[in-house]
Amino acid sequence: MSLRRKSCLSVAAAITALAGAAPAAGQQESVAGTLHNLSVSGPGEVRSLSETEVCKFCHIPHNAETPVPLWGHALSQAQYEVPEIRTGGTAAPAPQPDGASRLCLSCHDGTVALGDITSEPRIIPMTAGDRLTPGRPGYIGTDLSGSHPVSFVVPDGMTLADDSESDMTLRPLSAIGGDPDVVLDEAGKMQCTACHDPHADRYYSPGRVPRFWVKPTVEEVCLTCHALR
Ligand code: HEC
Ligand code: HEC
Ligand code: HEC
Ligand code: HEC
Repeated sequence: MSLRRKSCLSVAAAITALAGAAPAAGQQESVAGTLHNLSVSGPGEVRSLSETEVCKFCHIPHNAETPVPLWGHALSQAQYEVPEIRTGGTAAPAPQPDGASRLCLSCHDGTVALGDITSEPRIIPMTAGDRLTPGRPGYIGTDLSGSHPVSFVVPDGMTLADDSESDMTLRPLSAIGGDPDVVLDEAGKMQCTACHDPHADRYYSPGRVPRFWVKPTVEEVCLTCHALR
């Protein structure tokens, strides 16, 4: 998540830091082979001690928590510290995470048990503890202020503030919308899912390409929306 503004201020920096990335061996195309398989058969350190179903940690076929996408995991009620959105000269706090981002954070902010699913009264016991805790690779916490904003409507033709330290601008919405991998949600909002695909980990390469990444390289994702100025 981090995209810390200080350490990762620009697309240029991201490209320099992460250039030359090649897909790693063992890239995973389906949920079952990824860290998001939290069942007993999962490949990660964090998994269930007994549960065999893969999808049920996030989805439920009936009585869903939210109808789309048949969400079956307890939702986080946390309030988050958020970064600023800078639209052409003004700065305002980004919205509180909603939509798919709130779904992700229901495990990744560390406030909700990983096995707290809607379909069962019990909390499914997990290896490595009930929740993600500080120090785990997947722990994000509730301070998102150093991260890329999410859950805001991506504007069309917006330019970044003149006083922005950034050396980049935004591409038109028509160009962003034409990309098959970097997707906005139905409300036109950028969510965690613009950069990460929770169902597939095809391109992971340690130190080069983050997990669940939607394209082969970091810069291809950034440059879907941003252009250098
Ligand atoms: C603009 C693209 C982008 C968005 C949006 C994004 N991430 Fe990430 N994420 C990254 C990158 C790049 C990394 C690799 C580590 C880094 O640079 O901090 C990463 C790393 C991670 C990690 C590994 C832990 C870490 O902090 O390094 C987790 C977990 C994660 N993201 C979850 C999320 C969640 C949950 C959201 C939504 C709240 C989200 N990401 C939104 C780009 C993004
Ligand atoms: C770790 C959590 C997680 C697991 C496990 C998971 N999903 Fe999902 N799934 C999500 C999220 C988050 C979304 C919402 C994506 C979005 O809004 O873009 C979603 C959306 C979907 C959708 C709606 C279409 C789409 O892609 O947006 C389908 C269908 C789906 N999942 C099927 C599955 C199946 C089948 C499995 C088991 C093999 C599974 N999922 C396992 C998190 C998960
Ligand atoms: C049901 C709980 C759950 C949900 C919902 C969930 N994740 Fe995860 N995710 C995990 C667990 C557990 C791990 C492994 C974390 C660890 O080992 O510390 C993980 C790992 C990751 C990683 C890799 C972290 C690393 O660098 O090792 C990323 C990135 C990530 N998730 C992003 C997302 C995004 C984006 C969403 C929403 C679209 C999401 N997750 C939804 C449980 C979840
Ligand atoms: C889905 C489109 C989209 C993607 C993908 C995306 N961004 Fe952004 N980004 C935006 C938008 C829109 C803003 C403007 C938000 C605002 O008003 O601050 C922004 C703002 C930023 C800012 C803050 C600029 C400033 O001066 O305030 C940085 C830094 C940034 N993005 C870096 C990245 C990097 C690095 C990546 C790739 C890992 C990336 N972005 C991927 C849409 C995107």
